[in-house]
Amino acid sequence: MNKNKDMKMIETKKTSMDEWPEPIIRVQSLAESNLSSLPDRYIKPASQRATTTEEAPTATNIPIIDLEGLFLEDGLSDDVIMARISEACRQWGFFQVVNHGVRPELMDAARKNWREFFHLPVQAKETYSNSPRTYEGYGSRLGVEKGAILDWSDYYYLHHLPLHLKDFNKWPSFPPTIREVIDEYGKELVNLSGRIMKVLSSNLGLKEDRFQEAFGGENIGACMRVNYYPKCPRPELALGLSSHSDPGGMTILLPDDQVFGLQVRKNDTWITVKPHPHAFIVNIGDQIQILSNSTYKSVEHRVIVNSEKERVSLAFFYNPKSDIPIQPLQELVSTHNPPLYPPMTFDQYRLYIRTQGPQGKSHVESHISPR
Ligand code: OGA
Ligand code: NI
Repeated sequence: MNKNKDMKMIETKKTSMDEWPEPIIRVQSLAESNLSSLPDRYIKPASQRATTTEEAPTATNIPIIDLEGLFLEDGLSDDVIMARISEACRQWGFFQVVNHGVRPELMDAARKNWREFFHLPVQAKETYSNSPRTYEGYGSRLGVEKGAILDWSDYYYLHHLPLHLKDFNKWPSFPPTIREVIDEYGKELVNLSGRIMKVLSSNLGLKEDRFQEAFGGENIGACMRVNYYPKCPRPELALGLSSHSDPGGMTILLPDDQVFGLQVRKNDTWITVKPHPHAFIVNIGDQIQILSNSTYKSVEHRVIVNSEKERVSLAFFYNPKSDIPIQPLQELVSTHNPPLYPPMTFDQYRLYIRTQGPQGKSHVESHISPR
């Protein structure tokens, strides 16, 4: 709606993108200093806090879908599985997948290596310290707004694709196995993402490769943010990650195997996800919501923290090539069903979250075209 105004604001902020607006404090350091209270910078306004940080009873969970037998050599085979994925993308924007083809040992190794990395002393990680220009490396905030209320987490952000952005020197080198494990994990997740993209296309009556083509074919982006949520002295006042929708195409999350924390918005309630052993959590990002002209939903989610246990999660983001315009697919629009979003590249789009930090779904909604 206010596209020009938004973009202008982002342009002016760009000048300060080389540095953070104030000194960075590692949440790990705060957590290890045995604080008796929570510093003000982490206290969320009452309206954003979670009402409970207890594990929710078994009642509701996001759909769990078994992919066994779905991907056969001569194409997608199973209408029942396809229909379940279709419904999950429309109604939930989120689902868990099991029998997805990624080896459980690799999933465990990835979690273990990253946990060891985050257990290094803060000092040892500072060499990887990131800046808001690319976000690559070790970070402790999203957004550059001075004085913003911060989230209770540190993270590591790195690229798998395109290959010219994949730079081992920007990946951690400890523990000694980590680079090799991240590399294999990235390749497996690119592969799994490609297969799920086919399902998403077919389920809209499009040819299997349609989403992949719209993403730029071979030239897609893939990156990863590993989130570290330390124990929090006052979990009811803080959030590990504020409510947001993922700006990219599709996210495949490997949650902690012991500690819950992810909450997904369903209408006006927050559902705490109960991860199934060795499942991945898949969610639709803003770019697929846009391509599908809002048939698939990019849904808000957030992370709660607790005082007893730390939590580690690996979020893998599968994104369109960053400099091609993304807009509702022409096959899905008509005079009765006009495009809801103007074309925009992912580079332009993600500047918003990179400057404003996570802020619900205000972004994708601010780009809905006036009718
Ligand atoms: C993210 C995210 C959820 C989690 O990194 O975008 O939503 O459980 N993470 O850490
Ligand atoms: Ni997210």
